[in-house]
Parts: sequence; C-alpha cells; structure tokens
Amino acid sequence: MKILLFGKNGQVGWELQRSLAPLGELVALDADSRELCGDFTDLDGLVRTIRAVAPEVIVNAAAHTAVDKAESEPELARAINALAPEVLAQEAKRGNAWLIHYSTDYVFDGSGDKPWRETDPTAPLSVYGKTKLEGEQLIRQTNCRHLIFRTSWVYGTRGGNFAKTMLRLAQERDSLTVVNDQIGAPTGADLLADVTAHAIRAALQRPELSGLYHMVAAGETSWHGYAGFVIDFARRTGMSLKAAPDAIQAVPSGAFPLPARRPLNSRLDTAKLQSAFGLNLPVWQNGVARMLTEILDEQP
Ligand SMILES: NC(=O)c1ccc[n+]([C@@H]2O[C@H](COP(=O)([O-])OP(=O)(O)OC[C@H]3O[C@@H](n4cnc5c(N)ncnc54)[C@H](OP(=O)(O)O)[C@@H]3O)[C@@H](O)[C@H]2O)c1
Repeated sequence: MKILLFGKNGQVGWELQRSLAPLGELVALDADSRELCGDFTDLDGLVRTIRAVAPEVIVNAAAHTAVDKAESEPELARAINALAPEVLAQEAKRGNAWLIHYSTDYVFDGSGDKPWRETDPTAPLSVYGKTKLEGEQLIRQTNCRHLIFRTSWVYGTRGGNFAKTMLRLAQERDSLTVVNDQIGAPTGADLLADVTAHAIRAALQRPELSGLYHMVAAGETSWHGYAGFVIDFARRTGMSLKAAPDAIQAVPSGAFPLPARRPLNSRLDTAKLQSAFGLNLPVWQNGVARMLTEILDEQP
C-alpha cells in the first residue's frame, strides 16, 4: 500500500511518520519538499504530486494552526485549511483513494458543558474554526472516502508545548496565572497517530466506516488543572521549582485578551470512534505523564 502524508513535520505529522511506516510505502512531504510539492498554497502542485504518487491513502496533517494569526490572514488560513484539503479530496475521489484529515473542536461555539457529538450544530468563533469547518464541508462534498478526525488541545514531545512552558515559568517565577474556564482533554500527537493507523487498517477493510469522528484522550480538565498536573508531576520527580503547588492562580479567559476567541467547552464525545473502530481511548493523564517523563529525563 502507498500512503502520501502531507505536513510531515507538524506535531501530528511527525508522529504519523512513525505510526504509518509499518502500513506500507510512505511518501512524506512538507511545504519545503523539493521533488514533490507539499505546499498547500500551490494547488496545481498538489494535484501533480498526488497524480505522480498515486497513493491509496492520503493523510493530511498540514494546517494553518496559528489561531490568532489567522484572524489577520483569513485568506491564507482558508487556502490551507479549506481549499487545499478540497483539492486533496477531489484527487482522492479521482484516484479512488482514502483521505484522512484532522479538524478541531473550534468548529463549535463552546457553549454548555456537554461533550460535543459529531451531529451537534457547529458555530465557529474564529477564522481558524471557520476555515477548518469549511475544509470538512468541502471534503464531504466531493464524496471521496474519508476519515475526518476532530481533535483538541494537541501536544507533541518534539518542539514547544504547554507543559514545557509551564515548567519553564515555574522555574523562573514564584507564581503563575492560568485560565480555568476552558475545558477540554490534552491529547498526545502520538495517540492521534496510533489511532489513525488503526483506523486506516479498519477502514480499508470496511469502506462503510467513511465519516466524521471525534478523537481525544478520555477525561477532562481546564488549562489551570493541566498546569497543576504538570507542576505537581515535576515536583514529585524531584525537579526544583520556584512556584509552590498552590501558587498557580486561576483566572477567566478574559484575563488574557487574544485576537481569536476560544471555545469554553472543548469537550468532545468519542463514543462513535471507540465503537466503530473497537478502540479504547486512555485518560489524558496517561499521555501527559509519559510526555513529562520523556522531557524530565532529558533535563540536565
Ligand atoms: N494543535 C492543536 O491543539 C490542534 C487542536 C485541534 C485540531 N488540530 C488539528 O490537528 C491537525 C494537526 O495539527 P498539529 O498540532 O500537528 O499542527 P502543527 O504542529 O502546527 O502542524 C501543522 C503543519 O502544517 C504545516 N503547514 C503550514 N502551512 C503550510 C503550507 N502552506 N503548506 C504545507 N504545510 C503547511 C506546518 O509547517 P510549518 O510549521 O513549517 O509552518 C506544520 O508542519 C491540524 O489539522 C489541526 O488543525 C490541532
């Protein structure tokens, strides 16, 4: 089987390079790839690439994920999050391939406190959310076989992430201020990549699995709760921190005005994914503890 992966160096793309490799021949590209085009602003280049590779599965991990920046560059965000995925879907349809794509909890308005189901009404609050929703809709309209996975609060071990920022601040400062009115589930890029590989294998056998699924770790917390977990974990493993455990102050989102509005309720109901693919999604603390162990093992 031939798999074509776009966005290979993003958080999820990086982990997909690992998890997809055993499934077949993997061609992995990013925006700077030379021989084949992986640049989502070059739609003709994408068409040429897909026709040259002729994959059975196209996996799209590329996106315009700079949520605040998207507010001031909506056309670029739309090109990358909606128009390029539409081209991937058209080419998937043409070549009888599957398209695997990721979307976001930002398609919802964040009201209420129930986990969002795939059938719930969407109402994005930001350019990022609107363009990601349009991407989903354009993919569905092509009628290609697809798996669209909406996820949230993604972290990878490679590069920067929220936990690393909290650890650095707790080393530098006596106290921290963290938002406590946004609720979601921190979800590892490694978990997303592993579940994606399982889902692809299942979908190739059962085309009726084509559709939209919510994919996040189990459980829920706020950014404040997430920060508390990180700092408590680091302290118990012997890291010396300036900030005391009770020195993380909880504040509402309004305390940090940002260009893009974030949904307060980012809970996603994963029952459909777990039952369709026979999978069990672990609690978010498992993945975060594992990521922290890797980070802390590397500290001098
Ligand atoms: N991160 C989250 O919390 C989160 C939450 C919900 C859903 N998601 C979704 O999950 C998926 C993966 O996200 P992620 O966290 O892995 O994001 P990420 O780390 O920001 O990766 C996105 C990748 O897209 C690439 N990209 C940007 N512009 C491009 C272009 N013009 N052409 C080709 N590639 C381009 C980026 O390259 P550069 O870095 O070189 O720009 C980066 O490698 C996305 O669909 C995202 O919308 C993410």
